[in-house]
Amino acid sequence: MSHDRQFFDNFMLILGALFAITIALFFLARQIHAETKGQHRLEDPAVLAKTSERIAPVGRVVLDGEADVSAAPAAAETVVAQVRTGSEVYDMACMACHTTGAGGAPKIGDAAAWTDRISQGQATLVQHAINGFQGNAGYMPAKGGRADLTDDEVSSAVDYMIEKSK
Ligand code: HEC
Repeated sequence: MSHDRQFFDNFMLILGALFAITIALFFLARQIHAETKGQHRLEDPAVLAKTSERIAPVGRVVLDGEADVSAAPAAAETVVAQVRTGSEVYDMACMACHTTGAGGAPKIGDAAAWTDRISQGQATLVQHAINGFQGNAGYMPAKGGRADLTDDEVSSAVDYMIEKSK
């Protein structure tokens, strides 16, 4: 009987300890979430572009003799997300793997690694870069993991890579 009692006491003790750990983990996770949730979003170029679009001045003073800008509304002056060039997109989204060869990625400039790939045709390479691609060397994530890139931007990054790797 006292044996059962002791077992029961120990059992409840362990149960209580596990419960306390659960609560502690819950609050720890909440804390980490609160500290990190906004960061990624704030650094996102698409979000930055939207913000500068929203805070752009609605008009500007035109002095006598200055070219009349009324024909070209303020929006034309605002630097809204211009289409990024191939090399810009590459540096931003592709370099991490394709400069180092991480995860089996064919290195930019390594002609031997690219000849066979290039012979598939530019269109195929672009499709693989946009939609993602599982090959023998590794896994190429869709748009390099940057869902905010447009298809055109990915396409120009591929052109840039091909150009550098012939
Ligand atoms: C997380 C790593 C990673 C990132 C980031 C990444 N790639 Fe890749 N990429 C790979 C890997 C790995 C392969 C090789 C897949 C295979 O052939 O097995 C690859 C292959 C490719 C290929 C060749 C596909 C083929 O059919 O042979 C192209 C083109 C390509 N990547 C373009 C890009 C572009 C453009 C970007 C940036 C927008 C990018 N990659 C970003 C890992 C990455």
